[in-house]
Amino acid sequence: MAEQNASGKIMWATIIVAVVLTVIIYALTNKSFDSAANSGAGADEAELRIQPVAQFELAKADAAAEASGPKDGPTVYNSVCGACHNTGVAGAPKIDAKAEWAPRLGQGEAALLASVINGKGAMPPKGGATALSDDEIKGALDHILEKIK
Ligand code: HEC
Repeated sequence: MAEQNASGKIMWATIIVAVVLTVIIYALTNKSFDSAANSGAGADEAELRIQPVAQFELAKADAAAEASGPKDGPTVYNSVCGACHNTGVAGAPKIDAKAEWAPRLGQGEAALLASVINGKGAMPPKGGATALSDDEIKGALDHILEKIK
């Protein structure tokens, strides 16, 4: 009976050790698969290496944007919206073509603003300039509405 107990304990100990080893080996092999995949795709590694610098640059750009305060409507329009709305890129209604705006104006300014903030069709949210505040976007929209009056 005592002997049976002892061998039972040894059996359990063996099973536990085997499970622990399996988990460790699994974790290790998974990790080495990962790094093998990464060194295979050199682009990933390069991206990782430049990441701290890129983040620093982004932080600097954000700080610069904050330091200069909110941008007014024409400034936002010229730097962001005009890229599409000056010439009608991707079917964007042109700023100097009242007729292209006419069917859209009926929905009211609030709905137009929501379209710009959330994006619509080929227009990305906030025209792609997601760092801009809703107020800055409204300023640019007002600038358009002023032009097509
Ligand atoms: C990448 C190109 C692009 C940029 C940048 C862009 N737009 Fe647009 N915009 C479009 C396109 C395309 C449409 C037509 C979308 C549709 O109706 O499918 C559109 C539609 C609109 C509409 C009408 C929305 C509606 O509900 O009918 C407004 C208002 C507008 N843009 C304002 C702006 C403002 C303000 C900005 C700058 C903050 C801006 N757009 C930047 C491409 C752009």
